[in-house]
Amino acid sequence: MPKSFWHSCKPAKVFAFPFLICFFVVVGGTLAQTGSPTRLSDSEVRERVDALIKQMTLEEKIGQLSQLFVFEPTKDRDDAVAKGQLGSLLFLTDPAEINRYQHLAVEKSRLHIPLIFGFDVIHGFRTVFPVPIAMAASWDPSLAIEGQTVAAREARAVGIDWAFAPMLDIARDPRWGRIIEGAGEDPYLGSAMAAAQVRGFQGDYIGAADHLLACMKHFAGYGAAEGGRDYDASYIPDTLMYNVYLPPFHAAVKAGVGSAMSAYMDLNDVPATGNRWLLHDVLREQWGFRGFVVSDANSVKSLRIHGYAKDLYDAAVLGIKSGVDMEMAIGETAFSANLLTAVQKGDLTAQQIEDAARPILEMKMRLGLFENAYVDLPRAQQILSAPEHRVVSRRAAERTAVLLRNEGNLLPLRQDAYKKIALIGPLADSRRDIIGPWVFQYDLKETVSILDGLRNKLGPKSEISYAPGVQIGRKFPSFFDAIFREAKPPVWSVEQAKEEFDRAVRLAGSSDLTILVLGEKQDMIGEGASRESLELPGRQQELLEGVVATGKPVVVIMMNGRPLNLTWASQHAPAILEIWYPGTQGGNAVANLLLGDAVPGGKLPYAWPRNGGQIPIPYAHNTTQAPEDQGKRYWDEDSTPLFPFGYGLSYSSFQFSNLKLSESAVQPGETLDVTVDLENTGNTPADEVAQLYVHQQYGSTSRPVRELKGFERVTLAPHEKKTVHFSLGKNELSYWSTAKKDWVEEPSVFDVWAGGDSSAQLHSTFAVVP
Ligand code: NOJ
Repeated sequence: MPKSFWHSCKPAKVFAFPFLICFFVVVGGTLAQTGSPTRLSDSEVRERVDALIKQMTLEEKIGQLSQLFVFEPTKDRDDAVAKGQLGSLLFLTDPAEINRYQHLAVEKSRLHIPLIFGFDVIHGFRTVFPVPIAMAASWDPSLAIEGQTVAAREARAVGIDWAFAPMLDIARDPRWGRIIEGAGEDPYLGSAMAAAQVRGFQGDYIGAADHLLACMKHFAGYGAAEGGRDYDASYIPDTLMYNVYLPPFHAAVKAGVGSAMSAYMDLNDVPATGNRWLLHDVLREQWGFRGFVVSDANSVKSLRIHGYAKDLYDAAVLGIKSGVDMEMAIGETAFSANLLTAVQKGDLTAQQIEDAARPILEMKMRLGLFENAYVDLPRAQQILSAPEHRVVSRRAAERTAVLLRNEGNLLPLRQDAYKKIALIGPLADSRRDIIGPWVFQYDLKETVSILDGLRNKLGPKSEISYAPGVQIGRKFPSFFDAIFREAKPPVWSVEQAKEEFDRAVRLAGSSDLTILVLGEKQDMIGEGASRESLELPGRQQELLEGVVATGKPVVVIMMNGRPLNLTWASQHAPAILEIWYPGTQGGNAVANLLLGDAVPGGKLPYAWPRNGGQIPIPYAHNTTQAPEDQGKRYWDEDSTPLFPFGYGLSYSSFQFSNLKLSESAVQPGETLDVTVDLENTGNTPADEVAQLYVHQQYGSTSRPVRELKGFERVTLAPHEKKTVHFSLGKNELSYWSTAKKDWVEEPSVFDVWAGGDSSAQLHSTFAVVP
């Protein structure tokens, strides 16, 4: 979020509100569950909204189009709500306060139209789940459904009706901090995770009990920020826009997502928030989206900063004309200050205002807010403390871990072999870091750090000693610091830093095994957390080298949301386990994974570069001149990634065989079946992700060397064999041709590979014939 925006925020007093019983008594209506008591048909929704709109003044319609942040209550805002001048509030999490505002809207405003409350429910609410990039690494859409179902349940219980998620931005530049919020570099995996999250948040339909409205964001192209610098402009050619950046959004629309958030940046010199091509032509005309579009925070007002709008009046008019329905802002919206005048002056029509208000009212109606606007406070308490939510979170953390290296099968650990264990690293005992960024309602008392988890698991059987070794921190503070004021430990003096470093290395030397936790603190990744390098921050590389030099076995655990430089580690540390930011139960999950009570089965959702100079290094690149040198494009470093897209090891081993295609040739529009046998050839029950890649050999444009077109995470008992089925049809074989300026499915020869990552070798071909 731009600095100017957050700088105008006050500290978040709202988070300190006690969990009070609301002062008024809610009469009538059932409060047992949230959501609509009955599912309304489209025509019922339309009729009710038509009837409401007939009664609304132009000012009341304009009111619905404004959404304000609440960091502390103000009289002006209360008055605006009571007068129907606001449609939505965001960043409230205290159910009593939500009820108070809703009471003002429902009881005091002329037409009793409820507010819709929005919040960033990104990877959990009270129960924190692994960050979204981790959920993508599970390659298990059903896990994403489960996680967002729990998140929705907890958030809705306190009165949050609308989650600003899922974030569907494809990211191919890990310097961009928001890579952590998405599903990585691939549109196929990204689309599967998009649809799953929409399903988890919204349930079977918008208004389903204990679910909320999802908001796909940031529409679109934000992940391609120049230089990975957050908020900077994106320049995306149509071939990448249609084939890579847009598909996850389209998948979310097909899954029925009810709202979309416009992005902050310029897309090819037209700000996304003032971009009618995006918000109207693609979203509504091409895809038939019928929900509403909210701007990102202050991004309508920012149209002026971009040098696109002349002033705030112009920005408001451009916002509406481009297809923004609701403006998210702090202080005041450009919409509330200017839209009435714009209609009076003829720069906008009353119909345009009504068209923006209608889908907002429809969503409020579908969510059941007109019948059931208030929060049941005791029930909210109960849901937030549901123990089963923590179980789902722990299981998710186990399923998202990716084993990157395991020389000599060091993992799983044989507990009896290591009596003295050194746990080292600045993140190893941090409850705040293990839950990652974009969480606000966590409870650190119930959060399990890696040290906690190991102690829970090993009890007195092993002696675990902890030393942080180094401290790490940002060069420039995060803007979130100013708002949320999380406690920070004091910075060590130079002498103390030396002492701590030496103590950690000594501890490693005197132990039977070191578990070294490396990575980034949670404020080093996420919004406003881009960086120019992929090196391990601070003196972590030195610490790693010092610990490895002791000659004792070392397990490296990575806590991060972007790939960091592990080139040295991948040659010298026998075991590397990627755990991301695994959430509330992270420490228990890590202990289970290390000891073999859970088996890693996750796979990388991006190709892992050797260092920052290789960026971008998508696996789906084109073959060009001198393909035999493809891995040697630089004279000073390999031009292949350190770990390929889709990569991840297991404690077991697998074999793919018998790749079969139902047809050797199909016509455009026809489908062929692909099967491959997958066997667990080891002695451990474990998961493998069967992945299918396709390459079109020639056509009206060059096509990537490989593209993911199918995957399935499979659990197999030792020596069990299963046949995995895929199908390839129009959806998988067509693409946007920049030469034809259209979607095409072209006659060509196609390569097919199946295997456990994007370097799979099991190969076949088929043809699409005219
Ligand atoms: C700005 C972020 O870009 C967006 O993702 C978030 O939902 C809004 N602020 C609201 O916090």
